[in-house]
Amino acid sequence: MAEKRVAINTGGGDAPGLNAVIRAATLAGISRGWEMFGIRNGYRSMTEEGQRLVPLDRKAVQGITLLGGTILGTANRGNPFEMPFKNEKGEWEIRDESDHLVEEFKNQNLDALIAIGGDGSMHIASKLIKKGIPIVGVPKTIDNDLPETDITLGFDTALSTATEAIDKITTTAEAHERIMVVEVMGRYTGWIALHAGLSSTADVILIPEIPFDFENIVEKIRERAERGRYFTMIVVAEGAVEKNGERHVIGKAVGQAEQLGGVGEYVAKKLNELTGQESRHVVLGHLQRGGSPSSTDRLLSLRLGAEAIRAVSEGDFNKLIVTCGSELKRIPISDIAGKTKSVPLDGDVVQTARDIGICLGD
Ligand code: F6P
Repeated sequence: MAEKRVAINTGGGDAPGLNAVIRAATLAGISRGWEMFGIRNGYRSMTEEGQRLVPLDRKAVQGITLLGGTILGTANRGNPFEMPFKNEKGEWEIRDESDHLVEEFKNQNLDALIAIGGDGSMHIASKLIKKGIPIVGVPKTIDNDLPETDITLGFDTALSTATEAIDKITTTAEAHERIMVVEVMGRYTGWIALHAGLSSTADVILIPEIPFDFENIVEKIRERAERGRYFTMIVVAEGAVEKNGERHVIGKAVGQAEQLGGVGEYVAKKLNELTGQESRHVVLGHLQRGGSPSSTDRLLSLRLGAEAIRAVSEGDFNKLIVTCGSELKRIPISDIAGKTKSVPLDGDVVQTARDIGICLGD
């Protein structure tokens, strides 16, 4: 039997770069003579009948670095502590399947788990650690909202996708002299909106960290018109809120996080009413999660995957691999569980936006 049997899990929403982590971790594990496995479709499969683990060998990870998604599959209803099931009446009920998962982990003679995920996955990881599963975490989310790491894998690709899309919409805005509102993802933080908005030279950027006031946006539109610029590009984060207003929520399915959306449409309609100018909205949605990872995300993902194996090899468990400048570091997963990294309002990126005249809605 191999010296170690290690499983890899991809949890929560997919992000470009997941497959590169899987490849690097697999190859780095195999080169140490270990057996590597992937958990199929997230933790849920570990608690159900059927194929739970996918053996990962050289062939399984061939040519996957450049692929979006995850070859293992992922699931939003995969929290083992709050797993939704349909009962005989067809109604959803929540069960704690964590002991079942721990038992299966032991039955499979696994020595370690590499958990690739965002805030939800790290919260689950911190609870599984308490139940005795040795875990190394890898930070993934296009939202870039995990604390203690400069960047999360997937963010760079999402930014490029959003920037390219906003660039294209800008030409239409100018041609039609319209107000165009582009809603981007990011959950409760404005990393994607701010960075993609700045890169694509948007005129207004609305982020959850800065509640917005329509008066200020209208003023910006007027000021542009006075300079002969009769179109306005607005980038709004899905979690942005109006001053004294509420977050735009589409709904919440059992066992899943609430689904945000609708603020782009709201802003476009309201600006049409307030200015009389033709306004349209575009929701970029899951486009931002797909596609081939950028070279920055590929390299980061490969580094994170290999570092995770080095941590397992040293028995340095219950750590999250983070980026700090040009280096990788390991911090306790418990340090970040349940926390969110917001855009710092005193940071230079917000300051840059203000200095070059971008309206942030306040
Ligand atoms: O966390 C990544 C993310 O894409 C968020 O930006 C977004 O709010 C959410 O996931 C959407 O989740 P779902 O794919 O479940 O609709």
